[in-house]
Amino acid sequence: MSSKKVYIVSGAGLSAESGIRTFRDSGGLWEEYSIEEVCSVDGFRRDREKVSNFYDARRADLKNRKPNYAHKRIAELKNRYPDNIVVLTQNVDDLLERAGCRDVIHLHGTLTDLRCEECKKVFHIGYKSQKGVICPYCGSANIRHNVVMFGEPAPAYRYLNELYNYADMVVVIGTSGEVIDTAFMAQLVDYSILNNLDVNEYHDKYFKVKLYKPATKAIDEIYNLIEEFLSD
Ligand code: APR
Repeated sequence: MSSKKVYIVSGAGLSAESGIRTFRDSGGLWEEYSIEEVCSVDGFRRDREKVSNFYDARRADLKNRKPNYAHKRIAELKNRYPDNIVVLTQNVDDLLERAGCRDVIHLHGTLTDLRCEECKKVFHIGYKSQKGVICPYCGSANIRHNVVMFGEPAPAYRYLNELYNYADMVVVIGTSGEVIDTAFMAQLVDYSILNNLDVNEYHDKYFKVKLYKPATKAIDEIYNLIEEFLSD
């Protein structure tokens, strides 16, 4: 069995075909809200209710979304090669989990959980509103979304250090690379795959294989390339 480590790093583009809008594509999420208002610590401090309503709406929307074929194939890869494949996502949705993927690492938190600001514990909320919810551990009403906002630390970024040190292959699916530096990751390994819709010369030039098509159309080729890489 290969000891090689393959890191699959995904962004909003992976969930786009499930109907969840990406951040920067036209008509994306940001156009109705400013990043500042609903995804930053300052915006949250200014108007907690607006931000809580924003995440309530995203949670309610997520309930109606389904994993797509790309989520399913990533889940198959992870379940087939649990010790070789590491699944990192910037997405806060639970579509990889609903596709059967285990041990998904959410770099920017999870929409279906809340966090208590008193005891700091994280607990599951599913797709419900957080209105009136109290912490099941300490009873505090001082709870918030478990999504990382601009201006606060992202504890899961420690897994990026593991990628920097141990990755033999990096597969990047559906991310502009504007927040986590996927171009840097591609420079660390001999074998890197990029799947996006938009071309970004500067970012993309570091990748060995580039697939500019929807993730559901690219994922079978990605699956085969990873299998080949692990069987060498
Ligand atoms: N298949 C593959 N790629 C796609 C698809 C698709 N069907 N649709 C869009 N894409 C690609 C776009 O070409 C773009 O490069 O997905 C990428 C989406 O980029 P962004 O909208 O910037 O989303 P993302 O990279 O995940 O944003 C990163 O920014 O706002 C923060 O925390 C937020 O996690 C998010 C981070």
